[in-house]
Amino acid sequence: MIILGIESSCDECSVAILRDGELVAHEIASQIPLHQKYGGVVPEIASRAHILDLIEVFERAFADAKLAPSDITHVAVTQGPGLIGSLLVGLEAGKTFAYAHNIPLIGVHHTEGHLLAPLLERAANCDPPAMPFLGLVVSGGHTNLIRVNDISQYEAIGETLDDAAGEALDKIGKALGLPYPAGIAIDRLSEGGDRERFKLPRPLNRRDNYDFSFSGLKTAALTQLRKLGELPTDQLLSDFCASVLEAVVDSLVTKSIRAAVHQDLSTIVVTGGVSANRRLRQVFQERCQRRGIKLSIAAPHLCTDNAAMIAQLGALKFARYPQTHFTAYDLEPKPNWRIV
Ligand code: KG4
Ligand code: ZN
Repeated sequence: MIILGIESSCDECSVAILRDGELVAHEIASQIPLHQKYGGVVPEIASRAHILDLIEVFERAFADAKLAPSDITHVAVTQGPGLIGSLLVGLEAGKTFAYAHNIPLIGVHHTEGHLLAPLLERAANCDPPAMPFLGLVVSGGHTNLIRVNDISQYEAIGETLDDAAGEALDKIGKALGLPYPAGIAIDRLSEGGDRERFKLPRPLNRRDNYDFSFSGLKTAALTQLRKLGELPTDQLLSDFCASVLEAVVDSLVTKSIRAAVHQDLSTIVVTGGVSANRRLRQVFQERCQRRGIKLSIAAPHLCTDNAAMIAQLGALKFARYPQTHFTAYDLEPKPNWRIV
């Protein structure tokens, strides 16, 4: 199986080629610089940029893999959730490619791709998790705790009641004048910061459920920012970022470990853009070790949006359902597709 993966759900245009489970090409064109001056992703600009980038990303991937398009045996493309215009570009490319080469095509779920990214063993550079496991998907649009019993067999355990963790970091960072996506800047600025300097709430941490809430934390952070009078710089900025990040990390780790223990699951998988965060990775590592829980977090470039996870999810599904004829040339984008 030589599978082509295409990801275009938001602001990363990515193509990957997986040959018998091994990643032989992985190209990503990030649109972050294009959206930065607007402080967030502009959907119209995103879809136009995907159209402009996709062919070049395809060509780079085939050059890296030293393969011809006719060598591809299967195609997997992100069908949702995401921005409808951006999804359409990748979907049309996938359909066209599959139709032209008369090969099977599958539309896959973006979040499911994130969830199973650590299974890309060598490329993901982490211990592959054994199922069942508890998955935490933590990104700009999602904060979900999911019980993964098997491929395609998921149970919702908890989710955010308001803002996603990445969204809260991005909004607080925007108020601090940091460039989009501010989560990355907060990661960098937190280094050497005093995590206790600003007291911030850990919403719902004491409640016996697995839902998250980040909008109260965001409001508290913005209120403290206003009280400072002017935007913090230097050490004060570092302290502010470190305090905000600590509150977010504490909430994510506390709830995840509690859910794993109550669900009798011995492995936690953390994935999605925010799982690239160094402090989150460190605290998860320490607290999981203390509780005897195994932890899988993929290498940072496989935590943010990428086509490798899409190719892999497609490969797992094609292998699982070999009798099914996947020729879905009429696939429609599903912008609000829920994983469970
Ligand atoms: O998974 P992703 O690339 O796209 C979505 O599907 O949302 O996640 C993007 C989110 C953004 O909110 C961004 O600020 C956050 O991930 N992010 C980070 C880091 N890298 C990306 N947050 C904290 N620390 C990072 N190193
Ligand atoms: Zn994502």
